[in-house]
Amino acid sequence: MTDRSLVVLVTGGSSGLGLVIAKTFLDAGFRVVIAGRDSSRLDAAKASLAHDSYVATACCDVTEKQGADKAIQTAISHFSRLDVLVNCVGTSDRGLVENLTLERLDELIRQNVHTALLCSVAAIPFLEIEGGAIVNIGSLASKVGARYLGGYVAAKHALAGLTQQMRLELKPRGIHVGLVNPGPIRRDDAGSRYQSHVQHDPNVPAAAAKPGGGTTIKGLPPETVAAAVLRCARDRRPDMVLPRYLRLLIAVGHISPRLGDWLLLKFTSSKG
Ligand SMILES: NC(=O)c1ccc[n+]([C@@H]2O[C@H](COP(=O)([O-])OP(=O)(O)OC[C@H]3O[C@@H](n4cnc5c(N)ncnc54)[C@H](OP(=O)(O)O)[C@@H]3O)[C@@H](O)[C@H]2O)c1
Repeated sequence: MTDRSLVVLVTGGSSGLGLVIAKTFLDAGFRVVIAGRDSSRLDAAKASLAHDSYVATACCDVTEKQGADKAIQTAISHFSRLDVLVNCVGTSDRGLVENLTLERLDELIRQNVHTALLCSVAAIPFLEIEGGAIVNIGSLASKVGARYLGGYVAAKHALAGLTQQMRLELKPRGIHVGLVNPGPIRRDDAGSRYQSHVQHDPNVPAAAAKPGGGTTIKGLPPETVAAAVLRCARDRRPDMVLPRYLRLLIAVGHISPRLGDWLLLKFTSSKG
């Protein structure tokens, strides 16, 4: 795939996992659009990528229909087609559900679910032409609960349901819809970004600010997750869990919720 015929749009592609996904698709021969709200961050991300003449940026907020439409239109106006949409925008949370406000839950659903819905709906006509794919970025929190992740689990479970529903509806139209569910991902600011969420709550341990709420699951390299996103689009994989062994834990929890809860608490939660 060196003729650069294919085009991917990565929402949230200006930093974190999204930027690594953009790089992975670029290296695989795609032309790439990255979408984010901050234009200087987008410019810096574009400059950090090799082959940046094959990269376009869309400065927009994809929680709004207008922003989602702009992201898709950027792909069409720059590259005249769209083959893959990666819905990577998402926000996590820390805290106990008893302290979760409706405003915070709304915000988590806007960031994790509305973004994927709005971008996908805007992309469908173009993906249908190419027989393309949508990859939504879920989380282990799309599959199971976890201590101290607040409303994130509810929002990512909603995204998982939306993904399967879209896959069933869009399959006859030739569009694949997949979900990639990574565990905690290694990053430079791990541990600091959620500190303010946990420091005022005596019932939440400081370790909850760490990736995955302080879970004992080892952090994944973002490149591993990005490679899975590429496989999900190319091989039309419906649902991927990283690390793979955790699919067993998820399956056990479906068959026996009591045993699933026990295993989750024993093997994935920090004693914090
Ligand atoms: N980090 C982990 O350990 C982990 C684990 C499992 C799953 N995930 C999932 O992976 C995805 C990426 O996570 P991350 O931690 O890499 O994210 P991140 O570092 O917070 O990056 C978020 C990106 O999205 C952009 N963005 C945020 N809100 C936006 C909006 N409304 N419209 C357009 N762009 C927006 C940001 O740029 P601007 O701020 O400039 O808009 C930034 O480029 C999320 O869906 C997350 O739930 C993460």
